[in-house]
Amino acid sequence: MCGIFGMIGQNAVKTTLDSLRYLEYRGYDSAGIAVKRKEGLEWTKCMGRISELQKKAQGMAESDIAIGHTRWATHGRVCEQNAHPFVSEDGAFAIVHNGILENYLELKKELPNVHFSSQTDSETVAHMLSAVYRGDVLEAVLAVAKKLQGSFAIAIMSVYDNKLYAVKNKSPLVVGVSRNGTYLCSDVGCASRQAEQVALAEDNTVAVLSDKGVRFFDFDGQERRAKFFVAEQSAELQTEEGDVMLKEIFEIPQKIRASRQGYLQSGGLRLSDEEARRLKRIYLVGCGTAYNSGSQVACVARNFLDIDILPVIASEFIYDNYPVGEDTLAFLISQSGETADTLRAAEKIRHSGGITYAVTNNACGSLGFLCDYVSNVCAGAEFAVASTKAYNCQLVTLTLLLADIAVSRKTLSVQVRKDILCGLEEVAVASEQLLTDVYPLVRLAEELKKCSAVFYIGRLSDYPTACEGSLKLKEISYIHSEAYPAGELKHGTLALMEEGVAVIALATDEAMAGKIAYSVTEVVSRGARVISVGHAFPEAENIPLPKVHPYLADIISVIPLQLLAYYTAKSLSRDVDKPRNLAKSVTVE
Ligand code: F6R
Repeated sequence: MCGIFGMIGQNAVKTTLDSLRYLEYRGYDSAGIAVKRKEGLEWTKCMGRISELQKKAQGMAESDIAIGHTRWATHGRVCEQNAHPFVSEDGAFAIVHNGILENYLELKKELPNVHFSSQTDSETVAHMLSAVYRGDVLEAVLAVAKKLQGSFAIAIMSVYDNKLYAVKNKSPLVVGVSRNGTYLCSDVGCASRQAEQVALAEDNTVAVLSDKGVRFFDFDGQERRAKFFVAEQSAELQTEEGDVMLKEIFEIPQKIRASRQGYLQSGGLRLSDEEARRLKRIYLVGCGTAYNSGSQVACVARNFLDIDILPVIASEFIYDNYPVGEDTLAFLISQSGETADTLRAAEKIRHSGGITYAVTNNACGSLGFLCDYVSNVCAGAEFAVASTKAYNCQLVTLTLLLADIAVSRKTLSVQVRKDILCGLEEVAVASEQLLTDVYPLVRLAEELKKCSAVFYIGRLSDYPTACEGSLKLKEISYIHSEAYPAGELKHGTLALMEEGVAVIALATDEAMAGKIAYSVTEVVSRGARVISVGHAFPEAENIPLPKVHPYLADIISVIPLQLLAYYTAKSLSRDVDKPRNLAKSVTVE
């Protein structure tokens, strides 16, 4: 994963350090910065967050050229030696890298006399540059770029000129220009804080930044054009006290409204009636929380669509043989719009002739550019590593998209579609209601934190909600947790039910409550404690839910689960906004 930033312009040290804080969601185990001075390159790096780097770089004089990095370890453990930047032995080249170099072991063999100071794949690039340099930096960069395999966005500075070079394949690279400078960065939001216009570099591109502007080349040195555009200003990082995750959960009602409004204002479904009628299958593809939202909406849409609707995990889709043709529509769901697995799945679908439709919280991200159509879920920038409000907004946008396909296919009446739209305002009100009294959840969290394991169960569309609740809890509290379709418990997992285990039973659908009741009895009689969400059972504590349109119930039933995860992690003193071993945007396969 990792985040890279580089710039040519005044106050490059301050701006780079500040930008790295913005990119910290991409990785936060170590960080570093390198600057160019008349006397040569100067760099500093350390383990820990950007705040540590800021302390360490306090004495660093300002410069007009800098590159910086925030790391999420892939090759080599978390330690100062493995932190970026890496500098060639002769001190001539410094590099920072986001991605994975698949052939770095072979490349290392070409440098038998070099002493490597780290266990990383990235360091190889700095030494290769110095080995191939013959008086022209661009030539050296192109020569090295051609040899690299894998995913990479690499920023390069050297003692030989006052330029920055960036090499890109598969990992995101945004280049920006303004009156004050030129910039390179891993994300549009961060770049647009400095740049008036930004461009997304294509794969296999070398970008050359100078104080005059930016030029792009392919790896053969042929000049390329890039499309610059004015990106929407991204939200600034929260500076007030308090956890970002909790703030983002409390934004859910407002964002549900924004999502509905954004969908309508953007013109809704982009497919024509004719295209919608021709469809034979729909895939909902994503990872983690984004996959759960696709999986959830697929259950709902099966009530009103007459074609195959299949949720698929993106990393599986890439290698499996799911049928794709002109009659296939794939919704690629991604909060960040940068997830490598989802991008690869989108490429595969496009390549096989299917229609790709990005459902993202970052319409300017790589996924939006790759897909035939884009819908912005309008959740607003999400900074906490655990995704919350984006999930609720994905459910809103996907439900509307699938309802509109069903209207085109005449399997859903215009009236029901209207009911769904009106129902979304009720959903926003219901979510406000759920957020007004969180005390019962704070109390339950105190109990959950003592559990050895927490299982989430549900049937039909409650099952994906269970998966999302379980994912939230495990990722930020580190309590072992799993989700099951309730009926599956008796096929094995019941063996784990005993005292000290908690089961959260989702029961939003009254018609299924009787079936969930069996599961509740089964686990209670084996010593586990049960908390139900929605329907109340005599043996279980209950979290009641306000009534909303049945197709929209899951948008609110997940809210108590998001809060439970948060309060449980809090009571265990976890760092909820930056949980261990995770990063917000997973840009490696
Ligand atoms: C969980 C979480 C992850 C992401 C997943 C996909 O809280 O945030 O599971 O949902 O990495 O990320 P996006 O949606 O950016 O593609």
